[in-house]
Amino acid sequence: MAAVPVITVDGPSGSGKGTLAKALADHLGWHLLDSGALYRIVGCVAARLSVEVTDQTALAELARGLDIQFQGDVVWVRIAGQRTDLADEIRTEDAGVQASVVAALPEVRRAILSVQQGFRRNPGLVADGRDMGTVVFPDAQLKIFLDASAEERAQRRYKQLKNKGLSVSLRGLLEQIRERDARDRGRAVAPLKPAEDAVILDSTHLSIDAVLAQVVSLAKKAGLAH
Ligand code: C5P
Repeated sequence: MAAVPVITVDGPSGSGKGTLAKALADHLGWHLLDSGALYRIVGCVAARLSVEVTDQTALAELARGLDIQFQGDVVWVRIAGQRTDLADEIRTEDAGVQASVVAALPEVRRAILSVQQGFRRNPGLVADGRDMGTVVFPDAQLKIFLDASAEERAQRRYKQLKNKGLSVSLRGLLEQIRERDARDRGRAVAPLKPAEDAVILDSTHLSIDAVLAQVVSLAKKAGLAH
């Protein structure tokens, strides 16, 4: 039986990979895995239950026992028996930082591996993250690594937050992005890097529509789309 097709979209935060992955999954009518959301959920649930981010074993146990349901924009997570919507909480800057701290722990990554692989279902999966092409789906039929300069990524985040009416400092965002990049690229387990067989795209000067068009054309060439 042929393996369920997977397209992986990896890259640093703010490269546009989340938007690209969602648009691509919609275009193809495939499932979507937002793996960053899983690490964000582990971080948020740990904070709510006062689990120390240094307690790797407790965090891994928490990750293994997670009961999550993505329902449109709602993210249901069962916390201490209570079904809770964490959609807003996991999208904050703090949750991103917390996620990258717990994501550096090997036991947590191991616990989340099978949860991620469980998303591979017909007719296909678009998987968005940092190590989708290198570790989680090494046999993916198409691997994209989407990059953009740190300055451009900070600008994009700045505009997003301003549009939400939040007052933020561009310099602070740039610093945060650089710190998170360093942690993601420098960690011992599953560091952020393109798979050897990945196609590297740079979105610094490209709109998301232009990037999507390129990726759809690559998917067609790979026989994954019409
Ligand atoms: O993609 P997003 O910004 O939601 O991810 C939050 C953090 O989760 C990242 O900075 C990274 O540390 C971690 N992550 C990861 N591996 C993934 C997805 C996210 O380590 N596949």
